[in-house]
Amino acid sequence: MSDAAAADGQYANVVDFRHVTKRFGNITVIRDVTFSVPDLPNKGEFIAILGPSGCGKSTVLRLIAGLRPHYPATEGTVLVLDKPVTRPGSDRSMVFQDYTSFDNRTVEDNVAFGLECRGVPAAERRERAREWVAKVGLDVKRDATKYPSELSGGMRQRVAIARTLILSPRIILMDEPFGALDPTTRLHMQELLVHLWKEAQATVFFVTHSIEEAVYLGDRVYVFSSSPGTIIREMTIPPPTLPPKDMLRERAFIERVSELRDVMDGLATSTRAGD
Ligand SMILES: Nc1ncnc2c1ncn2[C@@H]1O[C@H](COP(=O)(O)OP(=O)(O)OP(=O)(O)O)[C@@H](O)[C@H]1O
Ligand SMILES: [Mg+2]
Repeated sequence: MSDAAAADGQYANVVDFRHVTKRFGNITVIRDVTFSVPDLPNKGEFIAILGPSGCGKSTVLRLIAGLRPHYPATEGTVLVLDKPVTRPGSDRSMVFQDYTSFDNRTVEDNVAFGLECRGVPAAERRERAREWVAKVGLDVKRDATKYPSELSGGMRQRVAIARTLILSPRIILMDEPFGALDPTTRLHMQELLVHLWKEAQATVFFVTHSIEEAVYLGDRVYVFSSSPGTIIREMTIPPPTLPPKDMLRERAFIERVSELRDVMDGLATSTRAGD
């Protein structure tokens, strides 16, 4: 952190990739990826990442998170809050595609897990966990003492989101979090996420295979090419003014979606590596 940053808590960039290449053996997974997400005052950006299967989207998130074996990059630099990533840290949290709850813990104990790791006393942990159970739209009385096996997919994903946001991370990494949900539940989860994200002022990286979801949620969309992945298109998007089901019918929205669909279709036919 520079002296100026230390003075006002402001950084140049939340995340900065400079010519990042990752190879596993002689296979190049991502190639020369360069982008930066500036630190805006009182606002975290929502970055949506689209790209064909196997192009390195999860790799990008795991490089930001500092998770092996994707971390460290083979070439180039990954900076988080202006410093090279050296390990996972409490400023970053990841929500995975498969609901990663502890099966032997209740909902509230799952949500409280991170606080427990931080040594927060039991009574405070329970109170804060219950607040978050309610915030993600679960019923405290009915659901807080349930086990993950007693929950639907949508409910489990609410638990995963509560478990992440309770820790107030600066950067939230979401890897296809709604991929397994039915369309209606998915719309509800998108609305919930927008609401919670505004409140949290975190920067979100959100991987999805849904172009509509990327355009609805993203302030910015990055499209990655087929393997080895590199950014081939960046689109900046004004914030949604309507709930998702109405937004889907807006002309500007439809045009953005078709533009991105054309880019993605071009990719699918040009290479099939990584399939
Ligand atoms: N630990 C590993 N060792 C070797 N190769 C790996 C490893 N992890 C991922 N890969 C390869 O890296 C490439 C990119 O993987 P990654 O998981 O980042 O893709 P993705 O874009 O997230 O794909 P999907 O959309 O299917 O989730 C794939 O070809 C994959 O086989
Ligand atoms: Mg992936």
